[in-house]
Amino acid sequence: MKLLLIGGGGREHALAWKLARDKARPTLFCAPGNAGTAALGTNVAIQAEDMDGLLDWARRERPELTVVGPEAPLCAGLADRFQAEGFRVFGPNQAAAQLEGSKVFSKDVLLAAGVPSAQSASFDDAAKALAYVRSASLPLVVKADGLAAGKGVLICTTREQAEDAIRQILVSRAFGPAGRKVLVEEFIEGEEVSVLAMVDGTRAVLLPSAQDHKRIFDGDQGPNTGGMGAYSPAPMESPAFRKLVQTLVFDPTLKELGRRGIRYQGVLYAGLMMTKSGPQVLEFNCRFGDPETQAILPRLTGDLIPAMEACIDGGLTPELVACRPEPCVCVVMAAGGYPGNYRKGDVIEGLDAAAAMQKTEVFHAGTRLDKGRVVTAGGRVLGVTALGSNLAGTAASAYQAVSAISFSGAQYRRDIAARGLKRK
Ligand code: AMP
Ligand code: GLY
Repeated sequence: MKLLLIGGGGREHALAWKLARDKARPTLFCAPGNAGTAALGTNVAIQAEDMDGLLDWARRERPELTVVGPEAPLCAGLADRFQAEGFRVFGPNQAAAQLEGSKVFSKDVLLAAGVPSAQSASFDDAAKALAYVRSASLPLVVKADGLAAGKGVLICTTREQAEDAIRQILVSRAFGPAGRKVLVEEFIEGEEVSVLAMVDGTRAVLLPSAQDHKRIFDGDQGPNTGGMGAYSPAPMESPAFRKLVQTLVFDPTLKELGRRGIRYQGVLYAGLMMTKSGPQVLEFNCRFGDPETQAILPRLTGDLIPAMEACIDGGLTPELVACRPEPCVCVVMAAGGYPGNYRKGDVIEGLDAAAAMQKTEVFHAGTRLDKGRVVTAGGRVLGVTALGSNLAGTAASAYQAVSAISFSGAQYRRDIAARGLKRK
């Protein structure tokens, strides 16, 4: 089976790694891929956002399945265009991907579906937005409506910050067209958790939960990043928690989309805040999380292709995404300077030694091959991942593998999974 995987980060290497193990033994093509995916298939030099280039490639090569990693192509309608030409795509169409592509749309669906989320107001007029933040209680969370590569959410503890955020988004257009509208939310407190589900149009089947670590430094300090590590399961995971999230979040959301004539197919990722009064939705993403995927996929016992095909065709069952109880920990190694301007082109040493360790996988993110050597090529460079029988041992295994790897300027958090360990 010929399979096209779109994207080139750690999530896509983890997907390629899992897909390559399926009984169908797919022939993998990754666009654009990285040095990790190059070892599992063929990298195709087409960027994930180059829809015309990807479609041309598909017309020539006729992939039997296309799996989309990142949100941008989905929000731009890649699934619609591929499907219109008869290609099978795992991932939502443009209408459904608005759950991530527009925070105002997403909030509207949440409200109509009766799903708990922060109180909010949306604006396209700066004067009205400024008047609102002058009287609303603090802190406030100001969000650009559209895709902003994870940078469009501004947490404001003073009125000046909130006013400045409104001006940045609606007036200076710091996020371009993503800032045509703004959503202003009350600040809610609690512990965050990522719950991803596979969705077949009508039914959502939850994958194991995970917890991300968004800040660059230990103890959740410093600026936000794409995610510095993840582990699965999250500490609050239990049958009761899963049932609650299923009935409170996923079922009503899909029902509301159905009422609007929108069929959701692919992965739906709910970023949840566990507040004193229960879970509330912070955001939806229309795709696998990064780095959550690196900590979730090693826990799945079955093949991924049958589960993805069931999402496309209908008939998804929990058995198709059965999971083993062993926890999984992924520690991200990032380039020096990340999340600001970061170094590139540094040679990475010790990959073979780390890969030889038991139950350990090194997922590549920002890497590329340069004259036969693997060098850094992005902010998040590697996701060093271990599977084990208990969380403490698994975290220790992941860090043991991290210590075998080196590149100039490497930085990583020392406390991935610490929150889970504290709870035990
Ligand atoms: P989002 O992209 O909407 O998930 O926001 C990114 C991050 O901002 C989340 O992971 C939270 O840490 C934080 N955040 C978003 N909305 C809120 C809120 N209403 N209250 C508190 N924190 C929030
Ligand atoms: N880990 C956060 C995300 O994938 O959006």
